[in-house]
Amino acid sequence: MADPKSQKFQTLTGMRDMLWPDSARRRLLVDGFVGLVGNAGYKEVVPPLLENLGVFRRIGEATDVVTKEMYDFEDKDGSRIALRPEMTAGVARAFVQHKPALPWKVFYTGSNFRHERPQKGRYRAFDQVGVEVLGPDDPDVDVEVIVLAWRFFEALGLEQVRLLVNTLGEHADRSAYSEGVRLYLESRRSELSGQAQETLQRNPLRVLDSKRREDKAVIGEAPRISKYLSEAAAEHFGRVCSGLDALDVPYTVDDRLVRGLDYYRRTTFEFAADALDAAQNAIGGGGRYDGLVEDLGGPATDGVGFALGVDRILLACDAEEVFAPPVTRLDAYLVDLTGGESARDLTHEIRGAGMSADRRFGAGSMKAQMKAADRSGARFAVIIGSDELVADEVTVRMLRRPDDGSHSDAANGGQGGPTDAQQRIPRRELIEFLRSRK
Ligand code: HAM
Repeated sequence: MADPKSQKFQTLTGMRDMLWPDSARRRLLVDGFVGLVGNAGYKEVVPPLLENLGVFRRIGEATDVVTKEMYDFEDKDGSRIALRPEMTAGVARAFVQHKPALPWKVFYTGSNFRHERPQKGRYRAFDQVGVEVLGPDDPDVDVEVIVLAWRFFEALGLEQVRLLVNTLGEHADRSAYSEGVRLYLESRRSELSGQAQETLQRNPLRVLDSKRREDKAVIGEAPRISKYLSEAAAEHFGRVCSGLDALDVPYTVDDRLVRGLDYYRRTTFEFAADALDAAQNAIGGGGRYDGLVEDLGGPATDGVGFALGVDRILLACDAEEVFAPPVTRLDAYLVDLTGGESARDLTHEIRGAGMSADRRFGAGSMKAQMKAADRSGARFAVIIGSDELVADEVTVRMLRRPDDGSHSDAANGGQGGPTDAQQRIPRRELIEFLRSRK
């Protein structure tokens, strides 16, 4: 057996470590989302990562997410549990459990797990941000959530995003439509790809999602949902579309948009990023899921929401070259040539005053410490040599100009004489000095 000490561990297939600056961008993206939906009255819900397997079964017994991709296993007490593959089912379960007042407008951020074949933009652990509204049946709610997502993409600077909308009708419409599609596809089964034939067995509507060339011709002639829509469903959808028109949000009605989860009724929508490969260009999606709460043992309650894929959105931002990593500027970097105690005390003091400071640990030459100071992106190096220590003073050297963050000349030299960018001040005035130059 291999010596455990010599074993080198790597991330599991389909999982990634996100390091800085990607991690900083991710946080900024999530914070931006939280601000945006917070302004629209959404409150955070934090459901657990693990749920009873039955909660997720409601996503759809015939969906890949449930049958093939779920990380489900037996808990220590023998019960069947699963890592969440998405958040909507857990949020609906929380709603049933806690009975909050209606309407319940919530948002969430967090990881989800699906055992998919990994590729760029498709991971086994991925982050979503999303919202759900439980209670109102009003099409304006559909409009509100769609427009929030649209605004979010706009705020990131994304320009190549397309909004696709569709309706799957009421429960009965959807069932009738699914049966109509099944009969049609059965009649042309031999022309379909092997994959589509297999999908047809389990979930006829999902065949409409096939991107394979051989399936396209058959799908093109499949029945359209519009023929199966009840009057109420058609009216609801009409009002969603007119709401989007009124708010100037461009969209395309795509009557082949069925989405991968089974709980949808009426409105469905998806955001496609044209800057990404077609196979992974869905950066978010959602819709109405009237019926899910009942399926989970609650009272009949309407619901609508979306989830956006954080990882894919960041890829789309890369592709469009927008949403650069945030620039973080330390206020001060301590360069202590007297053993480190001053650096210890002054970083503590500066941070205590609500500003940012860092230092290098261990002994280091002036040159090495100045290099570290420069690399840190700090605005000022605060230098303490033996002269300063004796005189109870510090030398502050400007490394970056406050206006544009560009390099100050003094950052390079290290040896040059006193300049505007460098001065010696009493140690007790350091906080005020830094504060007044923020
Ligand atoms: P979904 O379409 O399964 O919907 O996922 C939403 C988004 O999560 C996708 O558009 C995609 O950006 C991202 N995503 C999904 N799977 C992966 C993956 N393996 N790797 C990277 N990103 C991925 C839902 O999850 C529904 N709960 C949305 C919803 C909320 N419907 C109503 N409310």
